[in-house]
Amino acid sequence: MKPFERYDSSSDPNYRPRKFEQLIGNSRALEEVLEGVKRVAPTSSTVFIQGETGTGKELIARAIHNASPRRARPFITLNCAAIPQDLLESELFGHEKGAFTGAIAQKLGRFELADKGTLFLDEVGDIPPALQPKMLRILQEQEFERLGSSRTHRVDVRLVAATHQDLAEMVRNGQFRRDLYFRLDVFPVRLPPLRERREDIPALVTHFVESLGRLVGRQIDHIPTETMLALRSYDWPGNIRELQNLIERAVILSDDGVLPNPLLPAGGQRVNVFPTGTTLIDSERALILRTLEAVGWVIGGRDGAATRLGLKRTTLIYKMQRHGIFRPSLDSDAEMTASPSHTPSLSAMSIEGNVKTPTRRECFPGEG
Ligand SMILES: Nc1ncnc2c1ncn2[C@@H]1O[C@H](COP(=O)(O)OP(=O)(O)O)[C@@H](O)[C@H]1O
Ligand SMILES: [Mg+2]
Repeated sequence: MKPFERYDSSSDPNYRPRKFEQLIGNSRALEEVLEGVKRVAPTSSTVFIQGETGTGKELIARAIHNASPRRARPFITLNCAAIPQDLLESELFGHEKGAFTGAIAQKLGRFELADKGTLFLDEVGDIPPALQPKMLRILQEQEFERLGSSRTHRVDVRLVAATHQDLAEMVRNGQFRRDLYFRLDVFPVRLPPLRERREDIPALVTHFVESLGRLVGRQIDHIPTETMLALRSYDWPGNIRELQNLIERAVILSDDGVLPNPLLPAGGQRVNVFPTGTTLIDSERALILRTLEAVGWVIGGRDGAATRLGLKRTTLIYKMQRHGIFRPSLDSDAEMTASPSHTPSLSAMSIEGNVKTPTRRECFPGEG
């Protein structure tokens, strides 16, 4: 008898691994992005990728380069947020020996290194206002001077810019030059967060389980359906990077070739086996209970049990009432029951992300 129902990608209508470069996912949202990417890649136009951290901006930038006639030329990257602002100009445009204290040798900037190739500038929203005119000029005229020199150089660079910030909003607030924004925003690509393309999660999980399994030398044969459901319901604030990291942890923690649920805290990470003959109602009750325990009895909010279970907050509260689920009574409950008139009922309580579920004692104060 198999202890777990195995997640079987062949019976999942949403599972179709796709390979455009190494981009996994078949959601409509991702398909739309990739259609645009394929269309713009062969040109030399500037591409502007917007998306939360970990959504795959850098992967898309590489895909654009690899699908372009520049693929045999360099792909150079620079994260503008990772460089101290006073060093950014020299990083981008280079400097001559003696241009400033510490400039002991000539140095080529990223634009020159990317000549005939592609430059991926991440976090362009962090380019300080003083440097924005020079950026505008190189994008418009392909011309610039290294620091400490008046000699003008020309480059042929395809720019892919990215940011997690709302650049249009920064323009409205006067933090970013409008003309530079328009020059970057030639071909915008909006990468949707993972929670807006949950259909991609099974394919991504399967992909990372295989590739990371190979990397750490652990073969996973089973992904319990319950674990896959939990992964699909989670909101992934860190997007695909977070998913990748959690799968790596789960692969390392696995034994018997079964993927543990990495969303449950350590110690409870092994998904319990429901004994055969368990009813659906019992399973639902157990799953709700276990999820509530895992999140410290928080119902609502991004990291709450409702989100993890893929339920509306009110639906979860209703189900808890139906199953008679209450937070176990602890001494620390005193702070919640401090006011004698405060006897919340489940349905009446406004349960926000940081408010915990009431105990049975709080709901039925006369009972025990
Ligand atoms: N569609 C995808 N398929 C496979 N891996 C992906 C996908 N999108 C992102 N990744 C992986 O997720 C991680 C984060 O992606 P990255 O491009 O660095 O995100 P960002 O630049 O938006 O922060 C990388 O390891 C990347 O390879
Ligand atoms: Mg990045």
